[in-house]
Amino acid sequence: MRVSLRERIRQLHRVIGLSIGLFVVMVAVTGAGMLFRESLEPVVYHGLLKVESCKNRLPLDTLIANASASNPVAGRPKQVRIYADADSSTRVLFSDNRWYYVNPCTGKVLGNEDRYGGLFGTMASLHSFQFLKKNGSVFAGTLALTFAIVLVGGGLALWIPETLRKRRRPVTIKPKLTGRAHWLSLHKTLGAYVSLIVLASALTGALQSFQFVRDALYTLTASKPPAPSPKLVVRADAQSLPVEALWQRAQALVPQPKYARIRYPGKPGDAFNFDLVARDAPHINAFSVASLDSSTGKVLRFTPYSENSLGHRIYLTALAFHYGWLSGGFIQLLQLIGMLSVPVLAYLGIGSYLRGKRPPPAPVSPRTTLALKVARKAAEAENIQSFELVDPAGKALPPFTAGSHLDVRVPGGKVRQYSLCNPPGERHRYLIAVMRAEPTRGGSRAMHEQVKEGDLIEVSTPKNHFPLVKSAKHSLLIAGGIGITPILCMTEHLAGLGADFKMHYFARSPARAAFVDRIKRSKFADRVFFHFTEDEKQQRIDLAALLQTHGPEMHLYLCGSEAFMNAVIDTALQKGWRKDRMHREYFSVERSESDNNVEFEVTITSTGKTICVPADKTVIAALADSGIHITASCEQGVCGTCVTRVLEGEPQHRDVFLSDDEKNRNDRFTPCCSRANSRTLVLDL
Ligand code: FES
Repeated sequence: MRVSLRERIRQLHRVIGLSIGLFVVMVAVTGAGMLFRESLEPVVYHGLLKVESCKNRLPLDTLIANASASNPVAGRPKQVRIYADADSSTRVLFSDNRWYYVNPCTGKVLGNEDRYGGLFGTMASLHSFQFLKKNGSVFAGTLALTFAIVLVGGGLALWIPETLRKRRRPVTIKPKLTGRAHWLSLHKTLGAYVSLIVLASALTGALQSFQFVRDALYTLTASKPPAPSPKLVVRADAQSLPVEALWQRAQALVPQPKYARIRYPGKPGDAFNFDLVARDAPHINAFSVASLDSSTGKVLRFTPYSENSLGHRIYLTALAFHYGWLSGGFIQLLQLIGMLSVPVLAYLGIGSYLRGKRPPPAPVSPRTTLALKVARKAAEAENIQSFELVDPAGKALPPFTAGSHLDVRVPGGKVRQYSLCNPPGERHRYLIAVMRAEPTRGGSRAMHEQVKEGDLIEVSTPKNHFPLVKSAKHSLLIAGGIGITPILCMTEHLAGLGADFKMHYFARSPARAAFVDRIKRSKFADRVFFHFTEDEKQQRIDLAALLQTHGPEMHLYLCGSEAFMNAVIDTALQKGWRKDRMHREYFSVERSESDNNVEFEVTITSTGKTICVPADKTVIAALADSGIHITASCEQGVCGTCVTRVLEGEPQHRDVFLSDDEKNRNDRFTPCCSRANSRTLVLDL
């Protein structure tokens, strides 16, 4: 069984989307909130983050001591954050994982907050899976990579080739689509618009999670080998200098930094680390890094931002982008749109999936077959023969209504539809008439040449796709050629009811018109008008005249060749007829070489099997070659027997069975004749 790469990507995209979709949505939504953390936090936590502007700051050791004293179980300090703004509090993180906010000028402790508590702390925890403690970061990174590669990359891999192949404009919204196709189209279109921005956010986020990737990035782009991590070679109990003294020395390296982080030694013997953002730094994440000996204040290592390896600078810039610290409002706004699109994409994707899981449309009418005897075969006109079918045992036949047809299995096994043309209400016989078609697909010729009186033939019980409208006050019936069969049956019925109607019968000549004597002998003969002409111009004149006047309660019933019916419909529309007042029945569909078939694929959803449909084969034929059989009847898109549900892709409808609304929904098609606009159709088989 061959499953195409494209189908594998589609399946993976769907499975991954459904399984990690909600996690991705959580990360995206919290990410959207985090983008504006720097701007919103001082508003939401004004009392903790903002102080009255002041310049004379107390020594850091005093601030740290005050913070520690405010909570005796705070533990040891781990990090201090200092902002250059005159109205920003100084923040100290202790080993209890809480931030303590201190007024740098008065030393007053403003309060404390769990590192991952409060609105933004909770968002940060959810965004990077900190609640998983040990492996949260790796989980978040793996999720981001899976999202980037499978969902964004896979989505683009599916969408780009199809767009290029069809030479569509890169991004198109198809307002005509409905149902599942509509949801999928919106999913694809939105995905195409936001793919690059969410891809950038996911990859820059993933970068934070994998230290080995960062190390590789730094090393590969470094002009000289990175210096080893500085360690103090002093006794662990050596006296440490005041933090303020170390801070002053760090400021000698980067004067008056915009922002600084002081990271305490992880264990005795490690250096004090200072991350400093210089006044002229390109962004708030452009750190210069200094490591100082805590006991002597000696600078063990100092790397200005500009001397970081290219990889290190790329990483710091990527991080700044990820957190919305880069270039202000416009990029932040794009990121916000990208993040908020993720839940919409998930909603559309899941919605389209669920629509595909709904129960299939009701099967085409249940079929009961009858074996009937040909009681009489008669020539009704040039190339037209009638067949009177009766029950071999003389039993009454199932009733039928005006406009009904039979599916008839013709010699050779094919099934064709023929309208009943005897008066409805007759139970002792069915009467059909068959015109020998030129060119023929075999059905009408077999009926003419091989079926004899006395033969048994298999037919369905009567089915009606062309019923009369019961509420119609006036009816105009128009038959073209062999289209007289259902029209005559309808006329008999309306005459029996005493209804108001007129019937017009177009044929090339009296010799080609069937049932002329029967009509002329009928009680309704005065309401039937014959139009015998081979002159198309004359036909148009006649049609224009008879469609000229019509009341709001008049219904038009029409049967004939496709060209004839199109001419009638066009004329009727020009004369102001409403579409819902026009009813027609096709008995065949004319096709031309201009159908311009192209090859495409169909995928069987139950097996994942993908089958190529060559330009010269129908879907039904291509499936049959692979051992998959769909029941068909007319094989022309007339009867609806083969209607099959479409789960993905856009069918190219070529049938006359589905209504315009049904076609626009694109969730089913007739594989006997219809093809595909998309590269692939996924069928619910
Ligand atoms: Fe009749 Fe397809 S077989 S519509």
